Amino acid sequence: MTENRLFSGIQPTGEIHLGNYIGALRNWVSMQEEYEAIYCVVDLHALTAPQGPAELREATIRTAKALLAVGIDPDRSLLYVQSHVPQHAELAWILGTLASMGHLSRMIQYKEKSEKGGQNLGLFAYPVLQAADILIHRVHVVPVGDDQSQHLELTRELAERFNTRFGEIFPVPATITPKIGARVMSLKDPTAKMSKSDPDPKSRIDITDSADLIRKKIRSAVTDSGIGVRYDTEDKPGISNLLDITAAMSGRAIDELVAEYADLQYGSFKDAVADAVIDGLEPFRSAYSAMTDDYVRDVMASSAERAIDSAAASLAGIREAVGLS
Ligand code: AMP
Ligand code: TRP
Repeated sequence: MTENRLFSGIQPTGEIHLGNYIGALRNWVSMQEEYEAIYCVVDLHALTAPQGPAELREATIRTAKALLAVGIDPDRSLLYVQSHVPQHAELAWILGTLASMGHLSRMIQYKEKSEKGGQNLGLFAYPVLQAADILIHRVHVVPVGDDQSQHLELTRELAERFNTRFGEIFPVPATITPKIGARVMSLKDPTAKMSKSDPDPKSRIDITDSADLIRKKIRSAVTDSGIGVRYDTEDKPGISNLLDITAAMSGRAIDELVAEYADLQYGSFKDAVADAVIDGLEPFRSAYSAMTDDYVRDVMASSAERAIDSAAASLAGIREAVGLS
C-alpha cells in the first residue's frame, strides 16, 4: 500500500466561511499534488443537528460545488457524499464497540453542542463516525483546522486498539494543521473561533459573500481601542486575527505585513485586509457561479462509485478480522 493517502471531510451545514477555507480547504487543494486525496461532504454528521430535508439536500450540493470551485480536481481526487458510501456507517458501528464512554464524554465539541441543547446519541457518537470515515480508507494523513485535533486523537486511539485486538489493519493517521490560520477567529469576538453556527452573520465571512459585503464585514470587525498594527495575540487578538487572515490570503509573511502596515490607522489597515480577501476569493467566486448543479451531481455519482469499490474491499478485511462472516 502507498503511504500517501489522505482523507478529510466537511459538514453540509450553513455556508462555508473563511475559517473553513483558510484552515482546511485551500490546503486540501494544494495537497492533491502530493497525496492520493479523498474528500467527503459528511451529510450523516450534519444530521446530528436538526435541519430540514430540503435544506440538507441543498446544502449538500452547495458544499460539494464550493469544494470543486476552490479547486478540488475530480480527475485527481475523490469527492463524494458520505451517505452514498454505506461502509462508513457499518465501520462506525464496529468502532463504537471499542470506544470508551468516558473518552467520548470529554470531547469539547460534544460538550459545547450538547450544552446548547439537542443532545442525541448521534452527537455523542459523532467522533466514532469521523474515525470510521478516516479508517475505512486506511489513510495516512488528515488535514483539518485546530478544532478537530481531539477527534483525531480518538481516531488514532481506536486504530491502535483495533490493531492490538484484531491485527494490523489500520495505519495510524497523522493530523496536519496549517501553520497560519488553523484557528481563524470570529470578527465580532476575536477570542472565539469563526463558526457556521454563530447567530451573527457579521462574525464570519462566507466565501460566497460579495466583495461589498466582505468589505463591510471587515470594516465592522472588532479590534482594540489602541493604535498601531502589531502581531500580539494577547493584547491585540482582533488585529492579529486580521493579520493571520491577510497572510493566509496573500501568501505574504506576517513580519512583512506588519512592516508595511505598522503606522496605518485601523480603517486603512482593514481596507488592505479586505483587498487581500476579495482578491484571494475572486477565482473561487467566478468558478462557483459558472458551475451547474448537474455537473456537481455527476462528479458526486462517479466518485461515490469509486469510493464504494475501495471502501467495500477495506470493509471485507475488517469484517474478516473481527469474525463477522
Ligand atoms: P466544519 O465546518 O465544522 O465541517 O469544518 C470543516 C473544516 O474547517 C474542518 O477541518 C475544521 O477544522 C475547519 N475549520 C472550521 N472552523 C475553522 C476556523 N474558525 N478556523 C480554522 N479552521 C476551521
Ligand atoms: N468533524 C469534522 C468537522 O466538523 C468533519 C469531519 C467528519 C471530518 N469526518 C471527518 C474531518 C473526517 C476530517 C476527517 O469539521
